[in-house]
Amino acid sequence: MPRKIAAGNWKMNGTAEDLLQLTALSSAHPDPTVDVIICPPATLISQARTNAGKIGIGGQDCNTAVSGAHTGEISASMMKAAGATSIIVGHSERRTDHGESDALIAKKAQAAYAAGLVAIICIGETLAEREAGTTLDVMDVQLAGSVPDDATAANTVIAYEPVWAIGTGKVPSTEQIAEVHAHIRRVLKVRFADANEIPLLYGGSVKDSNAAEIFAVDNVDGALVGGASLKAVDFSPIISALEKA
Ligand code: PGA
Repeated sequence: MPRKIAAGNWKMNGTAEDLLQLTALSSAHPDPTVDVIICPPATLISQARTNAGKIGIGGQDCNTAVSGAHTGEISASMMKAAGATSIIVGHSERRTDHGESDALIAKKAQAAYAAGLVAIICIGETLAEREAGTTLDVMDVQLAGSVPDDATAANTVIAYEPVWAIGTGKVPSTEQIAEVHAHIRRVLKVRFADANEIPLLYGGSVKDSNAAEIFAVDNVDGALVGGASLKAVDFSPIISALEKA
């Protein structure tokens, strides 16, 4: 069985005072039976690490290089040195706002591996692609392009995040999630010997009220949560639902 993961992506939210949320989360879950990860803005990684107890800390993006003349960029090894153990790559907001390609995302995942970090690689279709009936084709292209050949269950997590479900309150049906996750598992099995162990997360408007039914879907090993990860009171029940699943 893949390990179960409840990951929170704070996106561009949070300053030092918000670390109180992390302290609260870690006191509510001093010994979680699933992996819990919070990905705060890079400015907070180091302080977050000291407030997080058994909660893992992750980054939200990285440059492909280790260091150098790349103004405004941050490398995976820098985030590792600050206390991160994982890093999100290929989030749809990066793909859309920064025009990131699958090839670039694969390079970022490799930068994460080289730094000794787990890459949480995000994929997902737009509403137009879903309505055109091309969701599974989009998954094929994104998996082929953004998951490096040296991905393993130890260094990679895949997050399926339909773009139309992110921050919208709209969630696919459990049948739709099951179909896509089963497809992702099948596609990974063709390339990776340990594909059955690679955690597959669902992301997009996960909250307390829908977490349990999403976690009951086959091949869903956890969630990548945006809005509902910002406050301990919202994220804590999602962690508990995953522990019970
Ligand atoms: P959301 O974001 O939970 O706010 O929909 C999910 C994500 O972008 O990972």
